[in-house]
Amino acid sequence: MTRGLPSPGTIEVVPSILSADFARLAEEIAIVASAGVKMIHLDVMDGHFVPNITIGPPVIAKLRKHSNLLFDTHLMISEPARYAESFAKAGADNITFHIETTDKPSELVDRIHDLGCTAGITLNPETPVESIEKVVPLCDMVLVMTVHPGFGGQVFIDEAARKVIAIRKIVGPDIRVEVDGGIDSETAPIVVSYGADTLVAGNAIFGKSDRIAAIRAIRAACK
Ligand code: DX5
Ligand code: ZN
Repeated sequence: MTRGLPSPGTIEVVPSILSADFARLAEEIAIVASAGVKMIHLDVMDGHFVPNITIGPPVIAKLRKHSNLLFDTHLMISEPARYAESFAKAGADNITFHIETTDKPSELVDRIHDLGCTAGITLNPETPVESIEKVVPLCDMVLVMTVHPGFGGQVFIDEAARKVIAIRKIVGPDIRVEVDGGIDSETAPIVVSYGADTLVAGNAIFGKSDRIAAIRAIRAACK
């Protein structure tokens, strides 16, 4: 069973496990689930598209047995089309890939849908909004990178975040616009004012000893 993205109209805080304790991932996910999050963000890095390596389908498949949260799978890999099926089979619900990694984004969105998942498109801070304009109408979510992908705990880039304003104009109110990188209780209200409704946060949650309080603080800052 694949989980659908929450209907637009709510602000969703999405913990990124990149800053979690990788030796205790199932427990870490259970803790943030108890704060009422609906989605968990899984950062997949291949050491090629980005200069870091994280997890792949085997880890996701094991986590799937421990959690019913929506697995928001962010592929920071060079050949997303080659691996989409493995991630779907492992239990990914939403699969987001980078526009910089493929010449055939529409085909890949169709493929992800055929695999039973929702599809997201994302773009690096220096990539212009025009690059995703054609594929966006086919997608279920747009992810705006607000840091250069590869590492947690980086500083929020406001200039990149401002692309949310243009993207929100293109997509209208009916699809989720997610932001990723440097989101905390100070930057969250800024991106919400630009039109984002889905807020990935790694360090601001898993870098704190009380993860639940950290999630509540981000939510409260957006009210
Ligand atoms: C960065 C990843 C992010 C990362 C965000 O390349 O895509 O999801 O976990 O981390 P923070 O919230 O710490 O900037
Ligand atoms: Zn991410």
